[in-house]
Amino acid sequence: MLTSKRVSVLAFMLTAVLLFGTAGCAPATPPSPATPDSECDLLRAELAKANAELEKLKAQLESARAEITTAKAASLEDLLRHRRSVRDYADAPLTRDEVMKLLWAAQGITRAWGGRTAPSAGALYPLELYVAVGNVVDLSPGVYKYHPRENKLTLVKEGDVRTALALASLGQRSVADGAIDIVIAAVYERTMVKYGARGERYVHIEVGHAAQNICLQAVALGLGLVTIGAFQDSAVAKIIGMSPDEAPLYVIPVGRLE
Ligand SMILES: Cc1cc2nc3c(=O)[nH]c(=O)nc-3n(C[C@H](O)[C@H](O)[C@H](O)COP(=O)(O)O)c2cc1C
Repeated sequence: MLTSKRVSVLAFMLTAVLLFGTAGCAPATPPSPATPDSECDLLRAELAKANAELEKLKAQLESARAEITTAKAASLEDLLRHRRSVRDYADAPLTRDEVMKLLWAAQGITRAWGGRTAPSAGALYPLELYVAVGNVVDLSPGVYKYHPRENKLTLVKEGDVRTALALASLGQRSVADGAIDIVIAAVYERTMVKYGARGERYVHIEVGHAAQNICLQAVALGLGLVTIGAFQDSAVAKIIGMSPDEAPLYVIPVGRLE
Protein backbone atom coordinates (compact mmCIF):
# COMPACT_ATOMS: atom_id res chain seq x y z
CA MET A 1 0.00 0.00 0.00
CA LEU A 2 1.19 3.50 -0.83
CA THR A 3 1.55 5.41 2.42
CA SER A 4 2.03 9.17 2.78
CA LYS A 5 5.47 8.50 4.24
CA ARG A 6 6.53 6.35 1.27
CA VAL A 7 5.38 8.98 -1.21
CA SER A 8 7.25 11.74 0.65
CA VAL A 9 10.46 9.67 0.77
CA LEU A 10 10.20 8.80 -2.94
CA ALA A 11 9.55 12.42 -3.86
CA PHE A 12 12.56 13.55 -1.80
CA MET A 13 14.83 10.91 -3.36
CA LEU A 14 13.75 11.81 -6.90
CA THR A 15 14.34 15.50 -6.32
CA ALA A 16 17.75 14.95 -4.70
CA VAL A 17 19.03 12.61 -7.43
CA LEU A 18 17.91 14.93 -10.20
CA LEU A 19 19.20 18.10 -8.58
CA PHE A 20 22.67 16.61 -8.13
CA GLY A 21 22.52 14.73 -11.42
CA THR A 22 21.91 17.88 -13.46
CA ALA A 23 24.25 20.14 -11.46
CA GLY A 24 26.92 20.14 -14.19
CA CYS A 25 24.45 21.19 -16.89
CA ALA A 26 24.09 24.78 -18.02
CA PRO A 27 20.41 25.84 -17.86
CA ALA A 28 20.60 27.03 -21.47
CA THR A 29 23.15 27.74 -24.21
CA PRO A 30 26.11 28.06 -24.28
CA PRO A 31 26.75 24.46 -23.24
CA SER A 32 28.64 23.86 -20.01
CA PRO A 33 32.22 22.68 -20.50
CA ALA A 34 31.75 20.39 -17.47
CA THR A 35 29.16 18.12 -19.13
CA PRO A 36 28.69 17.44 -22.84
CA ASP A 37 25.46 18.65 -24.44
CA SER A 38 24.01 15.22 -25.16
CA GLU A 39 24.51 14.15 -21.56
CA CYS A 40 22.64 17.26 -20.36
CA ASP A 41 19.81 16.55 -22.77
CA LEU A 42 19.62 13.06 -21.37
CA LEU A 43 19.51 14.35 -17.81
CA ARG A 44 16.85 16.93 -18.70
CA ALA A 45 14.74 14.20 -20.27
CA GLU A 46 15.20 12.15 -17.10
CA LEU A 47 14.16 15.20 -15.05
CA ALA A 48 10.99 15.62 -17.12
CA LYS A 49 10.20 11.91 -16.67
CA ALA A 50 10.82 12.15 -12.93
CA ASN A 51 8.61 15.24 -12.68
CA ALA A 52 5.78 13.35 -14.39
CA GLU A 53 6.34 10.48 -11.94
CA LEU A 54 6.25 12.97 -9.06
CA GLU A 55 2.89 14.34 -10.27
CA LYS A 56 1.51 10.78 -10.29
CA LEU A 57 2.76 10.21 -6.75
CA LYS A 58 1.21 13.50 -5.61
CA ALA A 59 -2.19 12.46 -7.01
CA GLN A 60 -1.89 9.07 -5.28
CA LEU A 61 -0.94 10.81 -2.05
CA GLU A 62 -3.97 13.10 -2.33
CA SER A 63 -6.22 10.11 -2.90
CA ALA A 64 -4.64 8.23 0.04
CA ARG A 65 -5.20 11.27 2.27
CA ALA A 66 -8.84 11.50 1.17
CA GLU A 67 -9.29 7.80 1.95
CA ILE A 68 -7.74 8.21 5.39
CA THR A 69 -10.01 11.19 6.11
CA THR A 70 -13.17 9.43 4.95
CA ALA A 71 -12.25 6.01 6.40
CA LYS A 72 -12.83 7.50 9.84
CA ALA A 73 -16.39 8.42 8.86
CA ALA A 74 -17.33 5.49 6.68
CA SER A 75 -20.41 4.08 8.38
CA LEU A 76 -23.34 3.81 5.97
CA GLU A 77 -25.19 6.45 7.99
CA ASP A 78 -22.25 8.84 7.58
CA LEU A 79 -22.01 8.23 3.83
CA LEU A 80 -25.74 8.89 3.46
CA ARG A 81 -25.51 12.00 5.63
CA HIS A 82 -22.63 13.43 3.61
CA ARG A 83 -23.98 12.68 0.13
CA ARG A 84 -24.77 15.90 -1.73
CA SER A 85 -24.82 16.95 -5.40
CA VAL A 86 -21.49 18.66 -6.16
CA ARG A 87 -21.17 20.68 -9.38
CA ASP A 88 -17.79 22.42 -8.86
CA TYR A 89 -14.54 20.46 -8.66
CA ALA A 90 -10.87 21.05 -7.96
CA ASP A 91 -8.69 21.03 -11.06
CA ALA A 92 -6.90 17.85 -9.95
CA PRO A 93 -6.71 14.39 -11.47
CA LEU A 94 -8.42 11.24 -10.24
CA THR A 95 -6.52 7.96 -10.13
CA ARG A 96 -7.41 4.92 -12.21
CA ASP A 97 -8.02 3.06 -8.96
CA GLU A 98 -10.71 5.60 -7.94
CA VAL A 99 -12.37 5.32 -11.35
CA MET A 100 -12.45 1.52 -11.07
CA LYS A 101 -13.90 1.70 -7.55
CA LEU A 102 -16.75 3.96 -8.76
CA LEU A 103 -17.59 1.63 -11.65
CA TRP A 104 -17.34 -1.48 -9.48
CA ALA A 105 -19.76 0.09 -7.00
CA ALA A 106 -22.31 0.47 -9.81
CA GLN A 107 -22.12 -2.96 -11.47
CA GLY A 108 -19.23 -4.96 -9.97
CA ILE A 109 -19.55 -8.75 -9.82
CA THR A 110 -19.88 -10.05 -6.26
CA ARG A 111 -20.87 -13.70 -6.81
CA ALA A 112 -19.45 -16.49 -8.98
CA TRP A 113 -22.82 -16.85 -10.78
CA GLY A 114 -22.61 -13.22 -11.85
CA GLY A 115 -24.53 -11.44 -9.08
CA ARG A 116 -23.66 -7.76 -8.92
CA THR A 117 -23.49 -4.91 -6.39
CA ALA A 118 -26.93 -3.65 -7.54
CA PRO A 119 -30.10 -5.75 -7.87
CA SER A 120 -31.48 -6.54 -11.31
CA ALA A 121 -34.96 -7.83 -12.29
CA GLY A 122 -34.55 -11.47 -13.30
CA ALA A 123 -30.76 -11.01 -12.99
CA LEU A 124 -30.85 -9.85 -16.61
CA TYR A 125 -28.48 -6.89 -16.10
CA PRO A 126 -29.57 -4.41 -18.78
CA LEU A 127 -27.11 -1.65 -17.78
CA GLU A 128 -23.88 -0.78 -19.60
CA LEU A 129 -21.30 1.62 -18.15
CA TYR A 130 -19.04 4.02 -20.02
CA VAL A 131 -16.56 6.51 -18.68
CA ALA A 132 -15.42 9.64 -20.53
CA VAL A 133 -11.94 10.23 -19.14
CA GLY A 134 -10.50 13.73 -19.14
CA ASN A 135 -8.18 14.08 -16.15
CA VAL A 136 -7.05 10.75 -14.70
CA VAL A 137 -3.41 10.20 -13.81
CA ASP A 138 -2.92 6.81 -15.40
CA LEU A 139 -5.64 6.74 -18.07
CA SER A 140 -5.29 8.74 -21.28
CA PRO A 141 -8.27 10.92 -22.31
CA GLY A 142 -10.90 8.93 -24.16
CA VAL A 143 -14.11 6.96 -23.81
CA TYR A 144 -13.86 3.55 -22.13
CA LYS A 145 -16.39 0.76 -21.58
CA TYR A 146 -16.56 -1.09 -18.24
CA HIS A 147 -16.65 -4.90 -18.32
CA PRO A 148 -18.06 -6.15 -14.98
CA ARG A 149 -17.04 -9.79 -15.46
CA GLU A 150 -13.33 -8.95 -15.80
CA ASN A 151 -13.61 -5.67 -13.83
CA LYS A 152 -11.69 -3.95 -16.62
CA LEU A 153 -11.95 -1.10 -19.13
CA THR A 154 -11.59 -1.22 -22.90
CA LEU A 155 -11.01 1.84 -25.05
CA VAL A 156 -13.98 2.82 -27.23
CA LYS A 157 -12.48 6.00 -28.66
CA GLU A 158 -9.49 8.23 -27.99
CA GLY A 159 -9.75 11.92 -27.03
CA ASP A 160 -11.40 14.11 -24.43
CA VAL A 161 -15.17 14.32 -25.10
CA ARG A 162 -16.18 16.15 -21.88
CA THR A 163 -16.87 19.49 -23.61
CA ALA A 164 -18.96 17.79 -26.30
CA LEU A 165 -20.87 15.92 -23.59
CA ALA A 166 -21.47 19.19 -21.70
CA LEU A 167 -22.94 20.76 -24.85
CA ALA A 168 -25.17 17.71 -25.31
CA SER A 169 -26.21 18.13 -21.65
CA LEU A 170 -27.77 21.53 -22.31
CA GLY A 171 -24.44 23.28 -21.64
CA GLN A 172 -24.13 22.12 -18.04
CA ARG A 173 -20.64 23.17 -16.91
CA SER A 174 -20.23 20.35 -14.37
CA VAL A 175 -20.07 17.83 -17.25
CA ALA A 176 -17.05 19.61 -18.76
CA ASP A 177 -15.42 20.30 -15.38
CA GLY A 178 -15.53 16.80 -13.86
CA ALA A 179 -12.29 14.80 -14.18
CA ILE A 180 -14.50 12.06 -15.66
CA ASP A 181 -18.10 11.58 -16.76
CA ILE A 182 -19.64 8.20 -16.06
CA VAL A 183 -22.40 7.48 -18.56
CA ILE A 184 -24.92 4.76 -17.73
CA ALA A 185 -26.77 3.24 -20.67
CA ALA A 186 -29.37 0.48 -20.90
CA VAL A 187 -30.25 -2.25 -23.35
CA TYR A 188 -34.03 -2.31 -22.70
CA GLU A 189 -34.54 -5.47 -24.74
CA ARG A 190 -32.61 -7.61 -22.25
CA THR A 191 -35.29 -6.97 -19.61
CA MET A 192 -38.36 -6.41 -21.83
CA VAL A 193 -37.91 -9.74 -23.58
CA LYS A 194 -38.96 -11.36 -20.29
CA TYR A 195 -41.16 -8.73 -18.64
CA GLY A 196 -42.73 -6.96 -21.64
CA ALA A 197 -43.73 -3.32 -21.19
CA ARG A 198 -43.19 -3.51 -17.42
CA GLY A 199 -39.51 -4.20 -18.12
CA GLU A 200 -39.08 -0.53 -19.03
CA ARG A 201 -39.99 0.42 -15.47
CA TYR A 202 -37.54 -2.17 -14.12
CA VAL A 203 -34.67 -0.74 -16.18
CA HIS A 204 -35.37 2.75 -14.80
CA ILE A 205 -35.47 1.44 -11.25
CA GLU A 206 -32.15 -0.35 -11.82
CA VAL A 207 -30.32 2.73 -13.06
CA GLY A 208 -31.30 4.39 -9.78
CA HIS A 209 -29.78 1.52 -7.80
CA ALA A 210 -26.52 1.70 -9.75
CA ALA A 211 -26.29 5.50 -9.57
CA GLN A 212 -26.92 5.54 -5.82
CA ASN A 213 -24.07 3.04 -5.36
CA ILE A 214 -21.80 5.41 -7.31
CA CYS A 215 -22.99 8.34 -5.14
CA LEU A 216 -22.10 6.52 -1.91
CA GLN A 217 -18.76 5.26 -3.23
CA ALA A 218 -17.87 8.84 -4.21
CA VAL A 219 -18.55 10.03 -0.67
CA ALA A 220 -16.43 7.15 0.69
CA LEU A 221 -13.56 8.20 -1.62
CA GLY A 222 -13.92 11.89 -0.75
CA LEU A 223 -15.00 12.82 -4.30
CA GLY A 224 -17.82 15.01 -5.60
CA LEU A 225 -20.42 14.24 -8.27
CA VAL A 226 -23.82 15.15 -9.61
CA THR A 227 -26.29 12.82 -11.34
CA ILE A 228 -27.49 14.43 -14.58
CA GLY A 229 -30.66 13.52 -16.43
CA ALA A 230 -31.02 16.60 -18.66
CA PHE A 231 -29.30 15.80 -21.97
CA GLN A 232 -30.03 15.01 -25.61
CA ASP A 233 -30.10 11.22 -25.84
CA SER A 234 -29.01 10.85 -29.47
CA ALA A 235 -26.14 13.35 -29.09
CA VAL A 236 -24.80 11.61 -25.95
CA ALA A 237 -25.09 8.16 -27.58
CA LYS A 238 -23.15 9.42 -30.61
CA ILE A 239 -20.41 11.18 -28.60
CA ILE A 240 -19.84 8.09 -26.46
CA GLY A 241 -19.97 5.71 -29.44
CA MET A 242 -22.75 3.50 -28.09
CA SER A 243 -24.11 0.58 -30.06
CA PRO A 244 -27.62 1.09 -31.57
CA ASP A 245 -29.35 -1.06 -28.91
CA GLU A 246 -27.99 1.07 -26.03
CA ALA A 247 -29.82 4.16 -24.71
CA PRO A 248 -28.12 6.66 -22.36
CA LEU A 249 -29.94 7.19 -19.04
CA TYR A 250 -27.53 9.09 -16.81
CA VAL A 251 -24.45 11.31 -17.16
CA ILE A 252 -22.45 11.58 -13.92
CA PRO A 253 -19.52 14.01 -13.74
CA VAL A 254 -17.09 13.20 -10.92
CA GLY A 255 -14.21 15.31 -9.63
CA ARG A 256 -12.05 16.01 -6.62
CA LEU A 257 -13.59 18.27 -3.97
CA GLU A 258 -12.39 21.89 -3.93
C1 LIG B 1 -33.22 11.85 -12.17
C2 LIG B 1 -32.37 13.05 -11.75
C3 LIG B 1 -31.95 13.95 -12.71
C4 LIG B 1 -31.16 15.02 -12.35
N1 LIG B 1 -30.68 15.86 -13.33
C5 LIG B 1 -29.86 16.86 -13.01
C6 LIG B 1 -29.33 17.71 -14.01
O1 LIG B 1 -29.57 17.57 -15.19
N2 LIG B 1 -28.46 18.69 -13.62
C7 LIG B 1 -28.11 18.89 -12.30
O2 LIG B 1 -27.31 19.78 -12.04
N3 LIG B 1 -28.62 18.11 -11.33
C8 LIG B 1 -29.47 17.10 -11.65
N4 LIG B 1 -29.95 16.28 -10.67
C9 LIG B 1 -29.55 16.49 -9.26
C10 LIG B 1 -30.63 17.21 -8.45
O3 LIG B 1 -30.73 18.56 -8.87
C11 LIG B 1 -30.28 17.13 -6.96
O4 LIG B 1 -30.28 15.79 -6.57
C12 LIG B 1 -31.28 17.92 -6.10
O5 LIG B 1 -31.08 19.29 -6.30
C13 LIG B 1 -31.14 17.61 -4.60
O6 LIG B 1 -29.82 17.93 -4.15
P1 LIG B 1 -28.88 16.83 -3.48
O7 LIG B 1 -28.55 15.80 -4.54
O8 LIG B 1 -27.65 17.59 -3.05
O9 LIG B 1 -29.61 16.23 -2.34
C14 LIG B 1 -30.78 15.22 -11.00
C15 LIG B 1 -31.21 14.30 -10.04
C16 LIG B 1 -31.99 13.22 -10.41
C17 LIG B 1 -32.41 12.23 -9.34
